[in-house]
Amino acid sequence: MTRPAFVQSVFDFAMREINALEGRIVTAEDDADAMLWEQAGQVVAQLKAGLSQRKLAAQWINVRTGKAYDEHHVRFVRKVFEQSAELAPRPRFRDAYQTIAHASMRKDLEDANRRTLETQVEVEASGIYHGDFRDRYLDVLPPESVQLVLTDPPYDEVSVDLYGAAAEAAQYVLRPGGSLLVYSGHKYLGEVIAAMAPHLRYWWTFALLEEGPRQLLQKLGVRSSWKPILWFVKGTRGDVAAIVPDILEGSGREKDAHEWQQGEAEAATLIERFTSPGDLVVDFFAGSGTVLAAAKKLDRRFVGFETHADNVEKIAERIA
Ligand SMILES: C[S@@+](CC[C@H](N)C(=O)[O-])C[C@H]1O[C@@H](n2cnc3c(N)ncnc32)[C@H](O)[C@@H]1O
Repeated sequence: MTRPAFVQSVFDFAMREINALEGRIVTAEDDADAMLWEQAGQVVAQLKAGLSQRKLAAQWINVRTGKAYDEHHVRFVRKVFEQSAELAPRPRFRDAYQTIAHASMRKDLEDANRRTLETQVEVEASGIYHGDFRDRYLDVLPPESVQLVLTDPPYDEVSVDLYGAAAEAAQYVLRPGGSLLVYSGHKYLGEVIAAMAPHLRYWWTFALLEEGPRQLLQKLGVRSSWKPILWFVKGTRGDVAAIVPDILEGSGREKDAHEWQQGEAEAATLIERFTSPGDLVVDFFAGSGTVLAAAKKLDRRFVGFETHADNVEKIAERIA
C-alpha cells in the first residue's frame, strides 16, 4: 500500500512508539509484575475517583525510565487492569499489556490513516452517530474542527462525570476560541463546573428563563424559573466586541419527541450567536436531535452522538 507522506510519518512515529513501549515492558523483570499490577490498580482507583487522564498521565511516572506516561499509556494500563483483574491466575502484566497495546496501537494507526485520508469527507459530513460519544468522537471529528459544542447531558449526580468527559472531548475538537455551551441542572452545578474546568476555560453562565409553571423543589425550599447554560471557551474568546446577552427566553416545553427535549428556538438563538453558516456544530448528547435540527435549518454542518437506538432513529427522521 502506498501512503501519502503525512500518513507515512504518523505510521513511522507510532511504530517507534510501539517499539519503545514494548522495549520498556519486555525488559521489566518478572518480579516487577506485582509492582506493575499495583500501579495499574492505583491508576484505575484514581480515574474512578475522578482524576482526569491528563492529570493522571502527568503524575504517573514510569519508575523504570523516569519519563512521564502519556494518555495512551494510562488508557492501556486501565484496559489491562479492567480486562485482567478478575482472571485467576492473573496473567503476567507484560503479556496482557502487550496484547492490548498491540490491538489498540493498530487501531490508532488505522484511524490516523483513515482520518488523514478522509478529513474533508468527515468534516463535510453531517449526521447522527449511534453510541457513547466518548468511544466515537475521536473517529468522527478531527481535532480543532468544531466551532460550537451545544449539548445537554443528563442532570443527575452520577452524570457529573459525563460533563467532565464532554469538556475533555470539546477541548480536543473545538477550534481555538470555540465555545462549549452546556445545559445543567442547579443541584450539582458546583460539581459540574469543577469537573469541566480542568479542560476548558469557564466564561459565563446564561439564564434560560423557563416558560410555563414554575418548578417547585419542595425539599430544597426553592421555586425555580430558570435553568443555567454554562459557557466554556477553548483558550480565550476572540470576538469580545460581539456583545452577547446572558438571558435567554425559553421557547416553552417541547416534549413531543423526547422526555427531555429542549426548545429548538433557544438552540437556534445560540447557534446563530456563536457560529456562521457552514461552521460545524456538535451535540454529544443528542436526545431527540433538537440542536442538530436547529443547526440544519441554519445551514450549519452538524454532528451528534446518542446512545439510545430509538432516539437515533427519531433523530434520523427529524433531520432527514
Ligand atoms: C437530556 S437528554 C438530551 C435532550 C436533548 N437536548 C433534546 O432536546 O432532545 C440526554 C441524552 O443523552 C443521551 N446520552 C447519555 N449518555 C450519553 C453518552 N455517553 N453518549 C451519547 N449520548 C448519551 C441520553 O440517551 C439522552 O437521550
